[in-house]
Amino acid sequence: MDDSVRLRLAGFPRERTWLLPALLAAQETEGWLSSEALTAVAEHVRVPPSETCAIATDYATFRRVKPGRHLVRVCAGLSCRLAGAADHLRALEDRLGIARGSTTPDGRVTLEEAECLSVCSLAPVLEVDGASHGRVTSVAVERLPMWFRTRRPWQGDVEASDLPQIRALGRTAQERLAYLRSHAEARIRQRPEFRFLVQGGSCGEALGAGEMLKALRLLAAMRGLDAEVLDGACHGMCSAGIVVEVQRAGWPRLTFTHLTKDIVPDLLSALVGSAPPLTRFTGVAWNDEGWRGLPPASRHPFFAGQRRLIMERCGHLDPDSLDDALLSGGYSALASVLDRQAPEDVVEQVKASGPLALSAAEWEVCRNASAAPRYFVANAEEGAPGLFADRHLMEGDPHRVLEG
Ligand code: FES
Repeated sequence: MDDSVRLRLAGFPRERTWLLPALLAAQETEGWLSSEALTAVAEHVRVPPSETCAIATDYATFRRVKPGRHLVRVCAGLSCRLAGAADHLRALEDRLGIARGSTTPDGRVTLEEAECLSVCSLAPVLEVDGASHGRVTSVAVERLPMWFRTRRPWQGDVEASDLPQIRALGRTAQERLAYLRSHAEARIRQRPEFRFLVQGGSCGEALGAGEMLKALRLLAAMRGLDAEVLDGACHGMCSAGIVVEVQRAGWPRLTFTHLTKDIVPDLLSALVGSAPPLTRFTGVAWNDEGWRGLPPASRHPFFAGQRRLIMERCGHLDPDSLDDALLSGGYSALASVLDRQAPEDVVEQVKASGPLALSAAEWEVCRNASAAPRYFVANAEEGAPGLFADRHLMEGDPHRVLEG
């Protein structure tokens, strides 16, 4: 074990509460948990070494055997099996000359089966060095090294002081919200003419949305287009990716599906040209009549039967933009509750809502706790393969998670 693990651990308080995060950090640093790393964690958070060892061997997330320099995991979930993942796994075993669960003799590649990787609509899925790749073909399996990369560095902790300070004027919460909205409206008027939101999040990443983002930025700049290209989120049509939403003042929002980066030049030409029909692209327009040959969302097979409530803004807003959330109605309910209801009444109301009673009880425990500061921890793990609506919401509209 080198000093980098100790350096990482130095950032954690020396309390047992930090055992799991400290183990994760140690694993992230070295790629696995050596005995020395387990001892260092135990010493740092002041627990017996047997406890770190028990946890490291109990959770499947933790790795007690050093993997190869590149880690290849083939999803063995049902959707992926049906879509041919088992064939991919056999092809990789043949190609690498190793059985699943082992590492090549030169220590270059470890090949493993994985539980559902939670992007089932993109089956079959491979994960290489921590990044998922969907709709993997046998040709892509032949070219496996193209996905090799350096493992992602540990994401630095965000300090509250790193976040922008937001000040709002007003006597009531609703007045302060109106103040924030008026400033957001002023900023939105300064935005570029075109806004492209590329399907981001887990599904978009697995389809290569990062490459689409780069291609759109490059080609828009080369054409001198007044445009911003943003890492957006998924509308819910993961399997129709790559999806890009186009927003422009005076137009309905346009959502294009099944895009590849090769088609970007044609898409830009069609958008900035003298209103040619958009019929050669698939997608929808978010109005009642449709737009230049794109059908309205109400006639699209995926959206037609839906009345979107919790996820209505997913895909339409930049998840990182508070302005987007404010101008699409975000935080209205919160402001109203802050002005009109006592905290105890809110807890009682949530308790009475039935299925949410457990979380209401948790809120009450939190409210009655005397410790400070109090932390808000959102758990996006739904615990069953193929279920990832919570993660989807967090990626697409984190403001909804905060507001409730
Ligand atoms: S079954 Fe493969 S991602 Fe879910």
